[in-house]
Amino acid sequence: MDPQEARRILEEERERGLSMIARADSSEALEAAKVGVLGRKSPFSQVQRSLGSFGPEDRKRLGMAANELRDALQAALDERRRLLAGAEEARLLEGDRIDVTLPGRRLRTGSLHPLTIVEDEMVGIFTRMGYRVEEGPEIEDDWHNFEALNIPRDHPARTMKDSLYVEIPGLLLRTETSAVQIRTMESQDPPVYIVAPGRTYRREAVDATHLSVFHQVEGLAVDEGISFADLKGTLETFARALFGPDRKVRMNPDYFPFVEPGCQVAVSCFKCDGTGCAVCGNGWIELLGAGMVHPKVLENCGIDAERYTGFAFGIGVERVAMVRHGVSDMRMFVEGDVRFLQQFQGAGV
Ligand code: DAH
Repeated sequence: MDPQEARRILEEERERGLSMIARADSSEALEAAKVGVLGRKSPFSQVQRSLGSFGPEDRKRLGMAANELRDALQAALDERRRLLAGAEEARLLEGDRIDVTLPGRRLRTGSLHPLTIVEDEMVGIFTRMGYRVEEGPEIEDDWHNFEALNIPRDHPARTMKDSLYVEIPGLLLRTETSAVQIRTMESQDPPVYIVAPGRTYRREAVDATHLSVFHQVEGLAVDEGISFADLKGTLETFARALFGPDRKVRMNPDYFPFVEPGCQVAVSCFKCDGTGCAVCGNGWIELLGAGMVHPKVLENCGIDAERYTGFAFGIGVERVAMVRHGVSDMRMFVEGDVRFLQQFQGAGV
């Protein structure tokens, strides 16, 4: 290359370089433009490499011109790079833009299970009367589930027909929450005022009114001077809190081994007020079993039955939930059908 050609190239390269740089529309394109105008294989570099072969006069003049061109291209590159960086940043920000005026996405919160709602409500009525909540194991032993509750070995409630046994001898799934009465009296001295909500198990042929896994809320009060009148007053207070202030309570004699006397308790229907309707049939809704704690049961727990008396009751949670919410088939509580469960959304919280 002779000096004349070198000069021509330098002139051309200024124009070509500046336009390449101006056209680069991203950092990558600009990088490519830089290689094209100042890189080792660029015409500009070829001129630089030829400078050594020129005479001193040309070398000086063209050398200065080459330096000047390199600085100009470099400055154009720097300027373009700043510009692109700003534009890219703006594009990223634009992509991240949040429109705070858009309506929010609704969270599907789910809801408490209807049985939980009813159980909470019943337990709440008793805790407001001063009762504490107790729990017991769902796998019970023979003593707490039967023997201490005055259910002797030959009692029909103990046969294989009613109970679900586990493989460890002497243990079974508790058939009623009454077992928690025993655990509480064994571990605490009177006065005792407790409710024990929980799951219970029986070998049942499942139908519209029977499940083999169900729930009860047990109650127990043991103190000096407790009478049947206290039981009646307590259950009346409970029934009215649950079903309305005008409810009447009916107590019919019934037999449970762990109480004496024992009774079946019904409340006048909240729908028809006792005249008879589709909810109740004959005007009364059977709610629970109850009675005065049998002296033998107190003694089984080391409590002096001469000094202390008590009452106990056991309420079926499914039954209350059914009449409460007009559910005609108990199996609906365990089928997990969202259309059924959704109806309780927002209730009980
Ligand atoms: N445990 C009884 C049942 O499952 C219900 C019951 C009746 C509980 C009388 C009691 C009671 O505490 O005194 O059928």
